[in-house]
Amino acid sequence: MRQVTVSAPGKLMLMGEHAVVYGRPCLVTAINWRLKISVEILEESLLIVKTKESEVGEYRKALGELGKGEIPKEVKFVELALFNFLNKYPIEVGVSMQTLNKFPTQYGFGSSSAVTVCVIKALSELFNINLSNKELFDLCYKTVLDVQRQGSGFDVAAAIYGRTLYFKAGGSTIKQLVEEGIILVVGYSGVKSDTVAMMNLVQKKMESYKTGVEKSFDSIAKLVDEAKVAILDKDWGRLGTLMDYNQNYLEDLGVSTDKLNQMIEGARRAGAYGAKLSGAGGGDCMIAVVSADNKQRVSDAIQSVGGEIIQTEVNANGVTIISGSS
Ligand code: MEV
Repeated sequence: MRQVTVSAPGKLMLMGEHAVVYGRPCLVTAINWRLKISVEILEESLLIVKTKESEVGEYRKALGELGKGEIPKEVKFVELALFNFLNKYPIEVGVSMQTLNKFPTQYGFGSSSAVTVCVIKALSELFNINLSNKELFDLCYKTVLDVQRQGSGFDVAAAIYGRTLYFKAGGSTIKQLVEEGIILVVGYSGVKSDTVAMMNLVQKKMESYKTGVEKSFDSIAKLVDEAKVAILDKDWGRLGTLMDYNQNYLEDLGVSTDKLNQMIEGARRAGAYGAKLSGAGGGDCMIAVVSADNKQRVSDAIQSVGGEIIQTEVNANGVTIISGSS
């Protein structure tokens, strides 16, 4: 095979953010925003990345130089994904990669993980290497850690497995839930979150008051376990209540913002089953679980306090080979 095109979904954290970094479970769902990459074999021993970002244009690097020197942030995940793949499966030829479809990075939908998953999935397909989902996860997760040093890997799992997952850090548990029918309203706060900064903030809290934070994380873990049952039972009222409690713990941790709180309160007042921030906090998005009848009312309430409604469908498919040619 000479060329392959792959797509992978973004994600929304449903419950358990931050606690998941400290060994507790979380619930994540893949969304219908997909990243698409085409990868082609080159005769020369080169990586070529064709990006739409004007600062980088066409990026070229000899395979022997991968991982060395200053790497522009736009191609970091791509280069290190290839580097890690070649370390495990040495291959003489080069590759050219082109992003065909992207989704905006500001919402926190996991575009970096989706890129990493697309690259390694495409390479394994091109070079006929049969990777299980877990092997794919391990290589992609290593790449994400190489770039950002921390993170649970829940976003990588969502991009690979898709659907709605019950997940534990490092992929020690990845359980696909048969979920149908959850309706979410997603509101963007207008502020891009800095995930690493938010994780550092929680780490500082942990250092200054470990017992208290561990206790909160244990409580969040119980909420997540109950929410898993609520999802399987399609008990959206219960799921909403559990989300509300999860939000209380996130507020205590100091990762919510006034704007997120206003949007969450607005959604609840408009009759959402429940609402919380989604992701690292400090900005990005909030989610509300709603009934079909109430979706518009909740959306209007979020907009009335300045939130931007982001149209998203949940429970999307994981990484998919779209086409390949020999
Ligand atoms: C960020 O979207 C969610 C965190 O739990 C980090 C992670 O799990 O990698 C804060």
